[in-house]
Amino acid sequence: MTDISSAINGRTSANNFDPTHVMTQAEILDLAQLANQTPTSFNQQNWRLVAVNTPAAKGRLKAAAFNQPKVGDAAVTFVVVGKIGGYKDLPTLIKPMLDGGHIDQAAYDGWIGMANGMYEGKEQFQRDEAIRSASLAAMTLMYAAHSKGLVSGAMIGFDSAAVSAECKLAANEVPAMLIAVGRPAPGNWPRKVRRAVADVVSFSAD
Ligand SMILES: Cc1cc2nc3c(=O)[nH]c(=O)nc-3n(C[C@H](O)[C@H](O)[C@H](O)COP(=O)(O)O)c2cc1C
Repeated sequence: MTDISSAINGRTSANNFDPTHVMTQAEILDLAQLANQTPTSFNQQNWRLVAVNTPAAKGRLKAAAFNQPKVGDAAVTFVVVGKIGGYKDLPTLIKPMLDGGHIDQAAYDGWIGMANGMYEGKEQFQRDEAIRSASLAAMTLMYAAHSKGLVSGAMIGFDSAAVSAECKLAANEVPAMLIAVGRPAPGNWPRKVRRAVADVVSFSAD
């Protein structure tokens, strides 16, 4: 295990993966379990993962990802899927908190009411939320992989319709990102240069 600062400083985006590396379902679930701790707005958990880890499925996903070799070579490529309108699941999702006595009926009703007020009828905002949640989950997944001594590579280079068809996504689901995970092969670049922190942060005026 690495501490969080070391993980942040140590993670790089890998392009070359060991094509002989196979991950068990248990190992893949271990990563997913960590990614599943990602926070989401109202805890609506409007994202999920499709783990593509068999040779045939990897081949099809690679074709949908503009033939990026890492999709074929990595032990697993996760399709991080965002769900549009995920706030509609909240009555079910937060029911265990009501049943467990963590919140009372008024808090439960208020929670759902606030979410409905925020998202209802706002298609673009719902889609933004799907991408936002999936992106946060994707980052958690990359650090989860790093914590297990694996490397990862995020991808937006894919045909969205083809990936949706391959993964049989529902009409209200969108593939936000692909994350290849596995053991590295030689030749990966080091961490790319970042802007100076002073260029990234500004402070509020008094
Ligand atoms: C949302 C996102 C999409 C990306 N898409 C691709 C991709 O399709 N193909 C690729 O080779 N790299 C892709 N990358 C990798 C970036 O080029 C890489 O993260 C960036 O250059 C920084 O690299 P570093 O983390 O090693 O410093 C993507 C990264 C992100 C975060």
